Amino acid sequence: MPEAVALLVAAGRGERLGSHGPKAFVRCGGRPMLDWSLDALRAAGIARIVVALPAGHEAPEGCVGVAGGTERSHSVRAALAAAGGAADVVLVHDAARPLVTAQIVRDCLAALTEDVDAAIAAAPMADTVKETDTLSGSQTTPVVVRTLDRSRLWAVQTPQVFRAGALRDVLDQDDAILATATDDASLVEARGGRVVVVPCPRENFKVTTPEDLQLAGLVLGARGR
Ligand code: CTP
Ligand code: MG
Repeated sequence: MPEAVALLVAAGRGERLGSHGPKAFVRCGGRPMLDWSLDALRAAGIARIVVALPAGHEAPEGCVGVAGGTERSHSVRAALAAAGGAADVVLVHDAARPLVTAQIVRDCLAALTEDVDAAIAAAPMADTVKETDTLSGSQTTPVVVRTLDRSRLWAVQTPQVFRAGALRDVLDQDDAILATATDDASLVEARGGRVVVVPCPRENFKVTTPEDLQLAGLVLGARGR
């Protein structure tokens, strides 16, 4: 397994959670949310971890801390810069996914074979997905255009593992381009890179809303018993 550095992005505001203070530091399963991810990364053998932080928060012990950016990919770029040039492999993980396991981290690292530019955690799509003629959130009633073939669809998660050079190249773009990317792998795809999916459980979901936070706390509690 190549020596990897992990970038843990924790600089978001957590607006949809509506909590007081940044989401990564909200308590989940009895401790700050980001601590669960740190445990999983370390249990998978990753020693070097850079955390992108919101203003006013200190790096967890043993980690390098860096101020996050306006959008998620700006935070990833800042963390990558702070990581320096030493590692060949870079793993990016959202602090908002406290249910990640060491096994998931290991599986993603192992999937970055020589012919691959990025390996990304994803769960097979459980819901049927339909495409409509209007954007979600627009005023008009969305009319269905087509039903997508669910057997080919994946709900993308983190970790996402990259060759350091490939990630550095795609993050070296205008802020406006980076701002439109909801994950890092899409930037690699746009450049024609080879991105492979690592099938993972839906349980590695992202905490976005108060319901997610409640569910994540229950799952973490059940794991501890
Ligand atoms: N993130 C970050 N820097 C940003 C925005 C997001 O480091 N400028 C991180 C978050 O801390 C989170 C991950 O990216 O771990 C996924 O983002 P998301 O779930 O959207 O978290 P928030 O941006 O905090 O939430 P919201 O969009 O509801 O404000
Ligand atoms: Mg966000």
